[in-house]
Amino acid sequence: MKEKENFYYPSEEFKKRALINKKDVYAQAAKNPVKFWEKMAKELFWFKKWKKGFVHNPPYFQWFSGGRINITSNIFENNSLGFERIKNKVALIWEPENEEEKEKKLTYYDLFREICRFSNALKKLGVKKGDRVGIYLPMIPEATVAMLACARLGAVHSVVFSAFSPRSLQVRLQDNEAKVLITADGYYRRGQIVDLKKNADQALDQTKVEKLIVVKRAKNKIAWQEGRDVWYEDITKDEEDFCPAEEMDSEDMHFILYTSGSTGKPKGCVHTCGGYAVQAYYTAKWIFDLKEDDIFWSTADLGWITGHTYSCYGPLLCGVSFIMFEGAPDFPVPDRWVRIIEKYGVTTFYTAPTAIRMFEQMGAEKFLNDKRMKTLQILGSVGEPIDEAAWQWYFKEVGREKCPLVDTWWQTETGGILITALPGIGPFKPAFAGLPFPGIKAEILDEQGKPCPPDKQGNLVLLPPFSPSLLRGIYKNDEKYKETYWSRYGDKIYFTSDSAYKDKEGLIRIVGRVDDVIKVAGHRVSTGELEAAINAHQEITECAVIGVADKIKGEVPAAFVVYNGSLLPQDIKDQIIAQIKKEIGPIALPKEVYLVKDLPKTRSGKIMRRILKKLLTGEDLGDLSTLSNPEVVEGIKKIIGSDNSDG
Ligand code: PRX
Repeated sequence: MKEKENFYYPSEEFKKRALINKKDVYAQAAKNPVKFWEKMAKELFWFKKWKKGFVHNPPYFQWFSGGRINITSNIFENNSLGFERIKNKVALIWEPENEEEKEKKLTYYDLFREICRFSNALKKLGVKKGDRVGIYLPMIPEATVAMLACARLGAVHSVVFSAFSPRSLQVRLQDNEAKVLITADGYYRRGQIVDLKKNADQALDQTKVEKLIVVKRAKNKIAWQEGRDVWYEDITKDEEDFCPAEEMDSEDMHFILYTSGSTGKPKGCVHTCGGYAVQAYYTAKWIFDLKEDDIFWSTADLGWITGHTYSCYGPLLCGVSFIMFEGAPDFPVPDRWVRIIEKYGVTTFYTAPTAIRMFEQMGAEKFLNDKRMKTLQILGSVGEPIDEAAWQWYFKEVGREKCPLVDTWWQTETGGILITALPGIGPFKPAFAGLPFPGIKAEILDEQGKPCPPDKQGNLVLLPPFSPSLLRGIYKNDEKYKETYWSRYGDKIYFTSDSAYKDKEGLIRIVGRVDDVIKVAGHRVSTGELEAAINAHQEITECAVIGVADKIKGEVPAAFVVYNGSLLPQDIKDQIIAQIKKEIGPIALPKEVYLVKDLPKTRSGKIMRRILKKLLTGEDLGDLSTLSNPEVVEGIKKIIGSDNSDG
């Protein structure tokens, strides 16, 4: 790996064997991005070729208009490598949490037959093209099977992360009106069984779900509702192992994935068939340099977009073998993830900065001696800004300064990676995501909409033709779609809600969100969502949640709560935590809950979260004259001070 003023480049040897190693790929694509994507799309199998590459009707757009495709045909029968070639090759390697339990390996052929059986079973339950199917499963092979079986039929999957609470699941099912939900009896987390079926049962109230399909995993005792509940095993075992692929229009809906927006209600991002398949395939292939003999491991759960695109569709479209791990990377031993990399000879490892910082803090370099993880060739990072120290640690201790490190920027909305370095080209610059992927036009604009010069921070936007996999809408909420993405700079510029700047070479560094979304250990939650959860507690008058920096998780929420005093302080604090667990789940619990008498507000009654943030960071508060109640500031300061001194 060559270094030049903190820019790293791939070694000559790496470059030579990389799929993409010539810089002119960027200029070529920039000449005509639509043509570029059309050329890429031709490598996939289409039942019918598209008529027009890109159709723009701001703020709406289409890709590969008139084309007909099914992503599963491109994974199986019509895989670009040829089905005969990959048929008996391992597709999915499943590593259970418990090391005593045996791993599972499913070949492309195994997986194909299994998804066909399940598609046929879903059909018998009445699932048709366009129907929404909820998936609430842990990291087990049936989760992959469920997603692909839906795609085979043209049913729209909506995966909900298994650590989300029943209430979160219910809200999503109500929004998308799924009539089938697929779940499991239970699963293992840090040695304990999580009773998933119980959560699913609680969520189904006031939804349109008619059938609950249950996968047997933990064999825990569960309640059963005759007529509604069916075992996955029972409905699939006698099914035909072939099911024809539904010919989908390129712009038909492929899946809905919910994500946090600036209010309490999650937004259902709509992704379509053609554009998503093209982007998932190309970004996986080029950014991870995926070749036939690679073993790819993306640690993301299928409940997130990274899980969809890089723990499922991307590697499968590329015909490689990939790992799915049920457990946590540091359980039962801190080097569990290293053992997995060694057990299977992982070549490409893709994870989030929170995990990297956790291992760095833990001093993991102690167990990463020269003999370990020798098979690694490429490292990836995703989901939140990676600071320079964590980047260097990952690059040096895990990659031994030999592996290109791709820091990949994207969003649930973009469906695939849009900004990153390419491993055979570079440069890899600590804390910088890099250049827009070939065929993507990204810009950084100031408040007036003018491009920012190098080093000046502004708003990151995407310019036409955007990206084939960019969301096409928010499910049943067109107003929100227009307001969130297409109003800041007009309806022809996609607003990402991220702040960023470029260096002189045009490499982009992502600074963070400009809205009230916070990334807690890479998980996306909005402060509005947390506030809504807390406010749902009867004793609470009002609250404000802000994100504060955290050494490992990047950011964590802190809550300022005004309550009616009817409970003891510790009791109300405990109940707030319980309330968030109930409404959202355990992914974003506040680090601190401050019980205050009042919140700083403007004369029009707007809560000044900025001041709360400054009080926590110790920054100068600036002018307080706009506040209607400046006297509350001193009181809050004391509460923060006393809570901190308590340890
Ligand atoms: O703020 C950016 C941050 O994560 C946001 C998107 O979150 P989500 O929809 O959960 O998708 C995460 C996985 C793609 C972005 O708006 N983000 C994502 N990747 C990076 C990042 N911030 C800095 N560097 C990244 N590589």
